[in-house]
Amino acid sequence: MRLDSSSNVNMDTGVFLLALIACVARPAEALDNGLALKPTMGWLHWERFMCNVDCDKDPDNCISERLYMQMADVMVKEGWKDAGYEYICIDDCWPSRQRDAKGRLQAHPKRFPGGIKKLADYIHSKGLKLGIYADVGKNTCAGYPGSLGYYETDAQTFADWGVDLLKFDGCFMEWKLLGEGYVNMSKALNKTGANILYSCEWPLYEWPFRQPNYTAIRETCNHWRNYADVFDSWNSVKSILQWTASHQDIIVPAAGPGGWNDPDMLDIGNFGLSHVQEESQMALWAIMAAPLLMSNDLRDICPRSKELLQNSHIIAINQDPLGKQGYRTATEDHFEVWERPLSQNRLAIAVMNKMEIGGRREFFIRETPSWKICSPQCNVTQILPQYKEMGLQTPQSDLVVSVSPSGTALLTVTPIRDFTSFHKLHQNDLTVHHKRIIL
Ligand SMILES: *[C@@H]1O[C@H](CO)[C@@H](O)[C@H](O)[C@H]1NC(C)=O
Ligand SMILES: *[C@@H]1O[C@H](CO)[C@@H](O)[C@H](O)[C@H]1NC(C)=O
Ligand SMILES: *[C@@H]1O[C@H](CO)[C@@H](O)[C@H](O)[C@H]1NC(C)=O
Ligand SMILES: *[C@@H]1O[C@H](CO)[C@@H](O)[C@H](O)[C@H]1NC(C)=O
Repeated sequence: MRLDSSSNVNMDTGVFLLALIACVARPAEALDNGLALKPTMGWLHWERFMCNVDCDKDPDNCISERLYMQMADVMVKEGWKDAGYEYICIDDCWPSRQRDAKGRLQAHPKRFPGGIKKLADYIHSKGLKLGIYADVGKNTCAGYPGSLGYYETDAQTFADWGVDLLKFDGCFMEWKLLGEGYVNMSKALNKTGANILYSCEWPLYEWPFRQPNYTAIRETCNHWRNYADVFDSWNSVKSILQWTASHQDIIVPAAGPGGWNDPDMLDIGNFGLSHVQEESQMALWAIMAAPLLMSNDLRDICPRSKELLQNSHIIAINQDPLGKQGYRTATEDHFEVWERPLSQNRLAIAVMNKMEIGGRREFFIRETPSWKICSPQCNVTQILPQYKEMGLQTPQSDLVVSVSPSGTALLTVTPIRDFTSFHKLHQNDLTVHHKRIIL
């Protein structure tokens, strides 16, 4: 079904945001540790490997030093590191149930016989970085020792081990103390003098009680989870997108170099998403300037998923140096349009087909709310579903994208303000357009 070009597009708050972000807002000060100037890229064990601690029965998939070492080997060998993926991150279930005699966290002795310091050295020897996991409260979500009362000890332990990133969860913490706890740990990390990227879940745990203070969160953390854990399903990915769109006026202005909204891990390469749904997750995570933390088994991943995760055009959108998060700008006829301002006045557009029945449906690209940047002309490149250079377009362009059910078309648009190429195209109509260019 074609969209009638005269139909009204329902624009949501995104259009307003576009204006607001373009004209006014610079995000508040970011945490001043020099890290996460672009969204973090790497791998995190949780979604795929969870709390599998049974190394006798399942030695290849249990939470053990072997898992991270093997993942590091593959990251280097199979092009992941070259594509930009850098952090190998441990999630819950790595420690021993007891702290040591000096009150320090210790890795589970059987599953991490070499200890975390040796693992960090190994990861560093591959040119990669190591992330670890702890919790702001009394216990981690899986019941291991939490850091409440031990922030400085734990920060120093992680620094001594050479850890590069801390994912700090929010289970078993009185919600009114969340802010204090996350701020105290941020200060404790800073005090070690080590460069440890700080990944928080403060807003996720505060939202049920009140609207979190994103100015404070941005000053404290390098990225922060806002919403529920991602599961290996399209419903889960959709619910994250829906939550993000419905809170975008609050959360999008908080993102920028040094601090990012974290919609959770990429499921791509697992079991629950079809390939077009994987494309949707990758495209929308790029639009959202999200950390790209894969949770999959890099030792065994299908070539199409791998190619998608390593797609340099999509990664370039995610890592765009302007560092502005995109947002949903229109919903119409079971399509969602998401747009992200890029450096050099470029724009990324994602058109998602929310209809989960039937075949591909076409969408006129000129219906996107920001298409005005194509006046007088723009150059359009389609990145998904296939790379295709669409060439020069105008405000009247008839360009359509054809989008599969639950799939997404992803494009970049480069405005052309150059007088010479413009001149060639519109020789007959110079005076009128000349004014427009000067404006
Ligand atoms: C600690 O914070 C200060 C001031 O905000 C900053 O200049 C410094 O770079 C930080 N150090 C680390 C290791 O993050
Ligand atoms: C945070 O640090 C302050 C100052 O040291 C302390 O009074 C407060 O109890 C700490 N809060 C938490 C949750 O650790
Ligand atoms: C939010 O946090 C900032 C920075 O810490 C602070 O200046 C501001 O007063 C806080 N806003 C509210 C409404 O508490
Ligand atoms: C349009 O963009 C493509 C891809 O970057 C590029 O190869 C092509 O030269 C551009 N065309 C114009 C007219 O700028």
